[in-house]
Amino acid sequence: MSLWDELWDWGAAWAAPVLAWSSMPLLVFEEAWAEDVDRLAALHGASFPGAAWTAADLAALLREETVFGVVARRANAFGSRSAVGFVLIRSVADEAEVLTVAVAPTHRRRGVARALMEEAMRRLYRDRVAHLFLEVDAGNQAALALYRRLRFEKVGERRGYYAHGSVPGATALVMRADLR
Ligand SMILES: CC(C)(COP(=O)(O)OP(=O)(O)OC[C@H]1O[C@@H](n2cnc3c(N)ncnc32)[C@H](O)[C@@H]1OP(=O)(O)O)[C@@H](O)C(=O)NCCC(=O)NCCS
Repeated sequence: MSLWDELWDWGAAWAAPVLAWSSMPLLVFEEAWAEDVDRLAALHGASFPGAAWTAADLAALLREETVFGVVARRANAFGSRSAVGFVLIRSVADEAEVLTVAVAPTHRRRGVARALMEEAMRRLYRDRVAHLFLEVDAGNQAALALYRRLRFEKVGERRGYYAHGSVPGATALVMRADLR
């Protein structure tokens, strides 16, 4: 049985919110909706200073038929849910791409990003997607650790890719995870 068969077996159906304990807070993983964009823009801004996507950017992406997002929400004692992380994916035919993933600085190192990615990968597996690609700054140790943990492998690199990003001229690694 492959890793993704196992993930699929363990996972709840996509339509149902997934509850998971992650160190302390009770988190719910749900699909991203248009109403989320202000909070997602704030999370993105805190994660990518100087290269933040606006709420309008995110709304435009979520309107695309090929794009979906998964949001991790922390439920408080009064029942309201505040987003603490999200991932956006573009999926076309049997290939998909991670557009962005971000977790609130206050909620890092608790498995939130890993759970978000696994939830997105379960959905892609269900949709018969074979390969998931991403680009990551070669100096982003946290992201590299996350992706290696999820069995992504380097398949290429683009020098100077982040010339307008957080690190001018930094190299991007292209990574791929085989889902099938
Ligand atoms: C990268 C990022 C999404 C990770 O989120 P997170 O919720 O803290 O990650 P997780 O807790 O799920 O960790 C997943 C794995 O990566 C490892 N990891 C996460 N952050 C790490 C760090 N700073 N240093 C080393 N390893 C790290 C964890 O140890 C974990 O491995 P494990 O399961 O074997 O313990 C988060 O740091 C972030 O939002 N960074 C800014 C935005 C960004 O860089 N996004 C990626 C762009 S490609």
